[in-house]
Amino acid sequence: MSQPASLVVLISGSGSNLQAIIDQCADKHINASICRVISNKADVKGLTRAEDAGIATQVIDHTQYADREAFDAALIEVIDQCNPDLVVLAGFMRILTEGFVTHFKGRLINIHPSLLPKYQGLNTHQRAIDAGDSEAGASVHFVTEELDGGPVIAQAKVPVEANDTSEALAKRVLTVEHGIFPAVIGWFADKRLQLDNNQIMFDQKTLSQPINWPFAD
Ligand code: GRF
Repeated sequence: MSQPASLVVLISGSGSNLQAIIDQCADKHINASICRVISNKADVKGLTRAEDAGIATQVIDHTQYADREAFDAALIEVIDQCNPDLVVLAGFMRILTEGFVTHFKGRLINIHPSLLPKYQGLNTHQRAIDAGDSEAGASVHFVTEELDGGPVIAQAKVPVEANDTSEALAKRVLTVEHGIFPAVIGWFADKRLQLDNNQIMFDQKTLSQPINWPFAD
């Protein structure tokens, strides 16, 4: 097996997606290891999850910086110390500057709790319910300059149930996030996935539409 891909994971909260990634690295489902977990908030559960797994953590509190540029510059400096193959946004609730996105272009992915391009931004579950959608889900995408707008690698769908609350739907979506996100990271680690000129290449072919969960392999 080749050298494990090095990951830096950015979080802001509970870190249940981080936990799924930690677990799949540990049991070798994905050939990667987490160099560092960075949170913009102190005292979040995700930091405890990382510490429990023996992973280095760092808090970079955005409120301590004059503007987004200064915060992102500090983030870049810390992330670059790991020289990661992939930077993973796992519930990181900050909008990133163009400079940050350009610096990590092609090695920056995010999970968003909607079937993009629907419902970029916040309150995705309530918006899906209010629109009367019959299905909702999660998307894993490469991050580009446009918020939640980069090319979508894979999507997982769940039904919207009658009388769903946004909390119930969020929980259902989160369950599939824990499958789809580590799987995509695994493909990247295995060099099956690249971003080439804003086009996704998967197994050396251009990906014309997102791969649907559950995956064939
Ligand atoms: C997930 O729903 C993710 O899609 C969104 O933020 C949430 C993070 O959850 N970006 P967790 O911190 O991984 O539990």
